[in-house]
Amino acid sequence: GAHVLIDTYGRVATDLRVSLTDRCNLRCTYCMPEEGLSWLAKPDLLTDDEIVRLIDIAVTSLGIEEVRFTGGEPLLRPGLVGIVERVAALTPRPRMSLTTNGIGLKRTATALKAAGLDRVNVSLDTLRPAVFKALTRRDRLRDVLEGLAAAHDAGLTPVKVNSVLMPGLNDDEAPDLLAWALEHGYELRFIEQMPLDAQHGWKRDGMVTADDILAALRTRFELTPEGSDARGSAPAERWRVDGGPQRVGVIASVTRPFCAACDRTRLTADGQIRTCLFAREETDLRAALRSGAPTEEIADIWRTAMWGKKAGSGLDDPTFLQPDRPMSAIGG
Ligand code: GTP
Ligand code: 5AD
Ligand code: SF4
Repeated sequence: GAHVLIDTYGRVATDLRVSLTDRCNLRCTYCMPEEGLSWLAKPDLLTDDEIVRLIDIAVTSLGIEEVRFTGGEPLLRPGLVGIVERVAALTPRPRMSLTTNGIGLKRTATALKAAGLDRVNVSLDTLRPAVFKALTRRDRLRDVLEGLAAAHDAGLTPVKVNSVLMPGLNDDEAPDLLAWALEHGYELRFIEQMPLDAQHGWKRDGMVTADDILAALRTRFELTPEGSDARGSAPAERWRVDGGPQRVGVIASVTRPFCAACDRTRLTADGQIRTCLFAREETDLRAALRSGAPTEEIADIWRTAMWGKKAGSGLDDPTFLQPDRPMSAIGG
């Protein structure tokens, strides 16, 4: 078949998101309950070799150009540095990034950079220790800040920071977060909360919208929209702050969906392809992999799965149903 992942709407997936584990060392209230979840069993997880093999197929046979490692918390995966090193040796070499809560970065940033990781995105929703503790149920703000600094120093740049605002918790913090990010040279993006929490507690009217965020930022900053050609297929819409060069982004999956430009395919830690964050079906690659299927057969399964990708998230349909797999096991 053709060496691309294309769907019936003509979208081509060039960006692969790989979840390396469904576990996390934080318990963000918008993501999972205090007691955690029933984690995937070890034998169900792809091994490091299996992950590298699938990424190899994705770049050599399917046109994938960028690989993002996610979780859960991907720094909890013992083999991460080795996986990055092996993916960096593939031809063609994909760009590589990591989305993390930042806690383990102080310890790993230099090794990740040396292994070939290009950049990191770090989740941080508040700069106030007490709010951090209420939101993540762990007292680790300092570790995140140190991790961010380590990533920046190691050259894992541009370092992006992802913030989810929650009503009554941190929704008054947008301008402070932006002032802080500008000062440190991090690119801040605010994310609208999506219905992907394990508790199924998301409510549209209990959500801080892109418009709310922009209004709050404009009380302190002048924002100028970036031209739409600069956006490409990126989920974040960006504004120049006070004339630039620094920018702020908003990822408005709920109020301004960007599905028409989607360029993503996803692989879960247990070897399932997801065509969309919100897909309710998955396609198993692990069985084929473990039965010794040749590269072309695995590539074909992947192409067929992507051909079935839906037009959009379905978030606006009255019949919308959240996927069974929560965000922490999809990888965002
Ligand atoms: P960059 O290439 O650095 O801009 O990465 P990114 O923003 O695509 O990735 P990141 O892992 O930092 O994700 C930020 C937010 O965007 C998370 O809440 C993701 O769930 C969300 N996101 C990523 N990809 C998609 C997508 O295809 N659809 C939707 N709706 N949200 C997405
Ligand atoms: N809605 C929006 N963003 C979320 N994240 C986790 N859960 C949700 C949700 N329900 C964010 C994390 C991280 C990124 C991968 O997604 O905070 O920054
Ligand atoms: Fe793509 Fe689904 Fe995200 Fe829309 S919601 S941009 S289709 S992954």
